[in-house]
Amino acid sequence: MGRQTTFTVAIDGPAAAGKGTISKRIAERFDLAHLDTGLLYRAVGALSLAGQDPIEAARTLVPSALDREDLRTPQVAKEASQVAAMPEVRGHLLAFQRDFARQEGGAVLDGRDIGTVICPDANVKLFVTANAEVRAKRRHAELTGKGLKIDYERVLSDVIARDQLDEGRQDAPMFKAEDAILIDTSEMDIETAVAKAVEIVAAHLD
Ligand code: CDP
Repeated sequence: MGRQTTFTVAIDGPAAAGKGTISKRIAERFDLAHLDTGLLYRAVGALSLAGQDPIEAARTLVPSALDREDLRTPQVAKEASQVAAMPEVRGHLLAFQRDFARQEGGAVLDGRDIGTVICPDANVKLFVTANAEVRAKRRHAELTGKGLKIDYERVLSDVIARDQLDEGRQDAPMFKAEDAILIDTSEMDIETAVAKAVEIVAAHLD
């Protein structure tokens, strides 16, 4: 069988589990468009920190808002998680994500609720996770690599607090869809994790 015109890969999981890298590499390998949906919430979070009403910010969000340079800071991540708990914010961002997923040629979307809410009919669903300590170590290395001075303990407590908020919210909480394949990267290097994901997606393509 040939390649369907739409082909959706949904990749969910908590912060710094490796889903960003895996998603990018899957997109390159299979020539799919890629959307990091966390950036939508981070962009709304950044606008909220700048004083805008988050619901209005989500309603009027423009694609160029995703190009802001300051979206990867811990402050923005925290605010993103706060605004992501608002059903109205999520509602305003829904159509854009679904349209992106259905585009001709196929797409990979990564986030927290892609396999459960945004694309419940995705062709492939992955849930990428790792224990909190490993994830905090990776995020700490990433942030200090960018020149940010921040304690590992602070990164770990931020990661745990965000997990709790993302898993505990009423609307679209983060959890593994029943038909998602789990990749636990706690004891896997990124190349091994990417190879595993590539293998799973390839098996669903033909
Ligand atoms: O990069 P990292 O995994 O730390 O976070 P992110 O994917 O950029 O997401 C930032 C925040 O946005 C998360 O903590 C969630 O609260 C929220 N988010 C969400 O609610 N739903 C999504 N599909 C993606 C992100």
